[in-house]
This record gives sequence, structure tokens and C-alpha cells, in this order.
Amino acid sequence: MEKIHLLFCVLGLVFASQAFAMEAYKPGEVWDDAEGNPINAHGGGMLYHEGAYYWYGEMKTGKTWMPKSNASWGGSRVDVTGVSCYSSRDLLNWKPEGNVLPANQDDPTHDLHTSKVVERPKVIYNRATGKFVMWMHIDSMNYGKASVGVAISDSPTGPFTYLYSIRPNKGVWPKNADEADKQSDPPAHYVRDHEKGQMARDMTLFVDDDQRAYLFYSAEENATHHIALLNDDYTQLTGQYKRVFIDRSMEAPAVFKRDGRYYFIASGCTAWHPNPARSAVADSIWGPWTELGNPCVGKNSDVTFYSQSTYVLPIQGKDDAYIFMADRWNPKNLEDSRYVWLPIEFNGDRPEVRWQDKWSTAWFDAQPSQ
Ligand code: GAL
Repeated sequence: MEKIHLLFCVLGLVFASQAFAMEAYKPGEVWDDAEGNPINAHGGGMLYHEGAYYWYGEMKTGKTWMPKSNASWGGSRVDVTGVSCYSSRDLLNWKPEGNVLPANQDDPTHDLHTSKVVERPKVIYNRATGKFVMWMHIDSMNYGKASVGVAISDSPTGPFTYLYSIRPNKGVWPKNADEADKQSDPPAHYVRDHEKGQMARDMTLFVDDDQRAYLFYSAEENATHHIALLNDDYTQLTGQYKRVFIDRSMEAPAVFKRDGRYYFIASGCTAWHPNPARSAVADSIWGPWTELGNPCVGKNSDVTFYSQSTYVLPIQGKDDAYIFMADRWNPKNLEDSRYVWLPIEFNGDRPEVRWQDKWSTAWFDAQPSQ
């Protein structure tokens, strides 16, 4: 009897572990973590460190509601819970590593207070200091603060210590400002941003092969993107920055490098609602950037397959293998927002993203080399 009991226990464990073992990406469907709970890492970014991938993202937990201040543009929210982290070696099965930057419950003036906005966290590793550095979009509930925040940790799985938030590049003219702009009658936003610091909302980080790190962010009321160089320990800005995609209104930036060239994928500005994605290429990170149009191809490409970019992940050890990571937001129930991961193909210089109902990274091995 005892033997039979043991057999059932073992079989139970085998079935339980199989139930949670993912074998393929199913974009847009609920994606459970290794403990069987939906992955909660939105607007996320990825870090590869010592054989493991770490996925950081916004925790969207609890009731979705619409602050009066945001009703006109559709800015529904859930109160801040923190930044989640998951780890994986196969990019399919994700172990929850917990809340690595929890919200502040008590101090309404704190950047991480539940009433604020903490979005699009990205973590990079600094080889010289051995620290993990997180940058994120920090905002007030009505998105008027438009700042970036910085946190730091000794371990990829946290806990992260919050350092500060800023509006970047206060008192610094952009590298490509016209001399005329700085003279007697500069455009209003130049004066405002010059005196108060640049507005910063949707953002990402990119570390180049030479270990220099850059912050890309939607500035100037989201109309123009800025690229700014971080200092050597990645916790501050150097003051060197450039305006790019001027008046092109791009959000949700994702940056990657392929064969020595820099690629940029982003969205337009329609709050939680999807729009056609954008892409661009450059030989230098400072540009000039050449726009390549919507990288999505086929049915629903005009709404980026009902999603918005957040990161492009180069797969370690696989040649020319990049995953387009995007969020399928649910503005009425943000907790039920999903993930759309799709492989990137290259048509000459042009990145292309096609829908797949179901796929795995083995897909890359079956591609003719491009
Ligand atoms: C989007 C942005 C998201 C979030 C949202 C709020 O445009 O990409 O990160 O800020 O607006 O409505």
C-alpha cells in the first residue's frame, strides 16, 4: 500500500513539473512562471549575466483605475507595487526572484510611493564596479514629473537600493542644438528644458561593446528622442546628449547592435493603445539615424500585432538571433496585460517581425544565414 502511495506521489510530481514546463512561445497568451502564476514583468528589459537571463519589469497588480487627470488621454493605472525579477536559462521557463524594488507604502513624496508611476525598468551590469544598475521612468500620477530614476544592487536578483530621480541634462544644451537656438529667441521647450532639465518618459538602456552605456528616452513632451551617455559607473549622466527623431513622437524604445550597426525599434504615442511600430538604423550611436518604417509585416502589422515594443534580446551563443519583446497592454485590466515575443528577421538592413502563433528559439536554427 505504501509503495503504491509513493508511486502516486512520484507520478504527481512528474506531472506537476511537466504542467509548468514551457516548450514554446505562444505570443499574447497567458504565460505562467515556474510556480504556475502569470509572469508579472511588463515594460520589461533583460540582462544576461553568468549563464542566466534576468527579466525585470513593472509589476501590475490590483485594480486598474483612471485618475481624473489622465482621463482625457486614456492613462489608466494600477498603483505601484514594485519591479519584479525572473530568472531563466532557456528563455522559456522563468523562476520568480521576487520584488527587487518594492514600492514605498508610507511616504507620499517618495518616487516609489504607491501613488506614483514606475515604468520600463532596465538593468545593466557594470564590469568595473561589479554593480547592477537599474534605470526606470519615474513619474507623478499625472505624468507631469517626467523623470528618470536610478537604483543599484550587488546582485542581479536584488534587493536594489533606490538612489535618486532627475530630469536629465539640466543646464546643458544638446550636442546638436543650432547655435541660433541658443541665442536671443530660442524655442520655448529649449528654454524650459535647459533650465529645469529634459523631460524623460519612456526609456531604455544600451551598453556598447566598449562598455559605454547610453540612455534613450522620450523627451520634449514625447515629441523628440534624446540619447545620453552615462558616466563610467552607470549611475549618472555625463551631460553629453543628442536630440534624435526630432518631432517624430516615438515611445517604447528598444536598441540593439548587429554586425557593427545600431538598430532602434519604437512605437508611436497612443498611451496603452497599439499603433504601427517604427525602426531605424545607424552606423554610430549618435546617428545620423535612418528610419526604416514599421518592421512588422503581415496581418495586424499596423497595430504591431496588438502590442508595443519594450526590448530586443540578442540570444547568447546563437548567431543572428534577436527576439522582439513587446507588451500587449489591457488598459481596462492592466494586470492581465500579456507578452508578445517574436523572432526578428533581416531583409538586408531592415529588421522584420512576423506573427507566429507558436514558436521556439529552434526557429532561428532553421533560418538560412542572412
Ligand atoms: C504609453 C507608454 C507606457 C505607459 C502608458 C501610460 O504610451 O509607452 O509605458 O506610460 O503610455 O498610458
